Amino acid sequence: MVYFLSFVIVALLLVTGALLQKIYNLRLDRPSQEKEAHDISLRTTWSKFDELLTSLLAIHEIGIVNAGAIKKEDFYHTVVDCACELINSPRGSLMLLDHKTDELRIVASRNISKDVVENTHIKPGLGIAGRAFQTGETIFVTDPQQNTQYKDYIGKEEQKDPFIALPLKLKDKPFGVLNLHLSREKESFTDYDLKFLTLLAGETAITLENIKLYESLESFYLEMVQTLARVIDAKDSYTGDHAGRARLKAKRLALELHVPGQMLRYVEYAALLHDIGKIGIDGAILLKPGKLTPEEYEEIKKHPAIGYQILSPIHFLGPVAQMVLYHQECFNGMGYPEGLKGEEIPLGARIVSTIDAWDAMMSDRPYRKALTRETAESELKKGAGRQFDPQVVEAFLRLEDAGWPPEPA
Ligand SMILES: [Fe+2]
Repeated sequence: MVYFLSFVIVALLLVTGALLQKIYNLRLDRPSQEKEAHDISLRTTWSKFDELLTSLLAIHEIGIVNAGAIKKEDFYHTVVDCACELINSPRGSLMLLDHKTDELRIVASRNISKDVVENTHIKPGLGIAGRAFQTGETIFVTDPQQNTQYKDYIGKEEQKDPFIALPLKLKDKPFGVLNLHLSREKESFTDYDLKFLTLLAGETAITLENIKLYESLESFYLEMVQTLARVIDAKDSYTGDHAGRARLKAKRLALELHVPGQMLRYVEYAALLHDIGKIGIDGAILLKPGKLTPEEYEEIKKHPAIGYQILSPIHFLGPVAQMVLYHQECFNGMGYPEGLKGEEIPLGARIVSTIDAWDAMMSDRPYRKALTRETAESELKKGAGRQFDPQVVEAFLRLEDAGWPPEPA
């Protein structure tokens, strides 16, 4: 009996223990499942934030750091790519208002047929994109097949995808629309997606405005310096349109020497402005028909430094001021103002120096007539390695022989 009772008590204790364990496990399990779900949600949100930050930084960098260096078309593609990556969208497009036709046109797209890109032009107020543009409100279409206006914009295949159109606005004024198609597998478009896209659209608008401001500032400065260049040409009347000729040749020669992107423009500007410092030199010396005295020559030698002083405060001209400062340096170190040698001299300055000398030899000067082409060519060859960079001379003569062919496409 005692054994039986002991057995029952032990059995009851075991059962109770097992039950308690089960309850305890359940209590432990539930929070841990919730915690896991919570962790997954946090991880998803964090990874979205991370993607958003990466996208915003990419766009911000273009606007702030590279506004003058990037092509607008490349920026448009960056925006569409960033937006598609951010919400895992299989296709999307960026539309901007064409002010001439008052129509929205696609300026960049991902996975949208060429035909649709080229033939889509929507009046504000029409279709989904047109309505998003006109109202300034984001429009989300969950079932595009039921929405007749949707068909205005896109081909048959894409009509099955849910679709979102976000207006791009600056100071409440819309100037474009970002369209994104969501994959059919995507369960829902979350609030986060919308918030992220709104942030992206805002940063895009600011960056585009920044690029536009930069462009207008640049063209304003360019007009200003072109006027200055014309003033110099007028002052040093024997040179005629020396600066204009130098600019065209410098650009072509720099291309021949594989000078990259933005630097190409700097070389062009340096050629246009290389003698801007002559504005500070006495006209009687510039136009003197006879030989210059040593003092007068010293005076002329100041023009690169004066040019540098004029141009160096203009930020957008970047390295142009340096090229102007060193355009009278010689490859063998015998030039002025600092006696720099070989590749110590900026390539842009070596290009300008060659073109400047050629143009001077081929023009009538106050003290002599223009040289023949053959004599000028032989002088340039003699000067290679001494006054001029031999590689620049070689490329220059190649272009001269070919009659300055247009830029390769
Ligand atoms: Fe000069």
